[in-house]
Amino acid sequence: MYTVPDLNEYLSDPIQQTADLLTALHEEAEAVRTESDWKVFRDRWMARKGGILAQVNDLWLRAAPPDRKREAGKRVNDLKARVEKKVEDSLQGLRAGVPAAHAGSERLDITLPGIHRPIGAEHPIIKTMNEIVAVFRNLGYSVQEGPEIETDYYNFESLNFPPNHPARDTQDTLFIANQQTKALREQLLLRTHTSPVQIRTMEKIKPPIRIVIPGKVYRNDPPDASHSPMFHQIEGLAVDTNITFGDLKGTLDHAMKAFFGSSVKTSFRPSFFPFTEPSAELMVSCFVCGGSGRRGSDPCRPCKQTGWIEILGCGMVDPNVFEFVKDNGYDPSKVSGFAFGMGADRIALLKYGVDDLQLFFQNDVRFLRQFA
Ligand code: PHE
Repeated sequence: MYTVPDLNEYLSDPIQQTADLLTALHEEAEAVRTESDWKVFRDRWMARKGGILAQVNDLWLRAAPPDRKREAGKRVNDLKARVEKKVEDSLQGLRAGVPAAHAGSERLDITLPGIHRPIGAEHPIIKTMNEIVAVFRNLGYSVQEGPEIETDYYNFESLNFPPNHPARDTQDTLFIANQQTKALREQLLLRTHTSPVQIRTMEKIKPPIRIVIPGKVYRNDPPDASHSPMFHQIEGLAVDTNITFGDLKGTLDHAMKAFFGSSVKTSFRPSFFPFTEPSAELMVSCFVCGGSGRRGSDPCRPCKQTGWIEILGCGMVDPNVFEFVKDNGYDPSKVSGFAFGMGADRIALLKYGVDDLQLFFQNDVRFLRQFA
């Protein structure tokens, strides 16, 4: 506990003695926790009789020799002002809930720069998906989602892949283990496409419908620069009376121009999917080389010099699919529709000129920061 040194000690080093006193003042102020602590603190320093200020006044000023009086007077006055301020500030700090150490002149400096907390950003694949979804939302489509662990029924059977049909082999399915005791249609797998959400939505919502379905899908593909066992699709489905292949073409041509830029051309080529008939692949003129197949004197790599890039699979909903949801208003003799599905990862690769798909999944912030 601090005690006031006598006059000789003070005179031998007034600067040090003043500093020691202020250190003690500061430490004792810091220990104040309650108003009764504070009263003890105030009296110890400021009591007219026997307080530290009173002792300083008697010992260092009144007793000082005439030639040191002026200087001692200045110091003691200064100490008096500081002690009074500290006592006052520590009470105010106590009432405002500020620790005594930070009260008064040592209050938080709000002009200092704050602690920087990075808020993160959209992943480039999610960003691409959101942009594509936005194109369809502007056309009046709403968004639907479904489970990533799916049954055989929704992933295959209701999409017109009969049991043992060879079309199932194209899907490189990852099956969940130990399902053999269940009926085939109940057996679980990781969905290989977002198409099961077509059926799930048609079970819930009567026609007409216009929906887009973004989500993760899984296939037994070893990871390399253009494959990943997990990737992303965006599915679309429109069902109404009198929907034609012309509606499909017009909608997708508009969507590609809205997403890739108004100068791209579209081209439809025959294809096959069990759940659409007829089926097509949609090609978009290469937005990297403008469709010429060359970049200056070099061959254009993204379109493999063909001038066209395959973007999605599509077609008119097969009547056999509607049969599974006929009871909810999807009578194939009354309604028709089109569906499409695209891989978001490949579109993001092309759009950002990234040459290795794995970079999207390694989550190296130095890579991801470039898209923020
Ligand atoms: N589900 C198909 C696939 O993953 C894509 C597709 C969707 C094709 C909708 C036609 C209609 O390959």
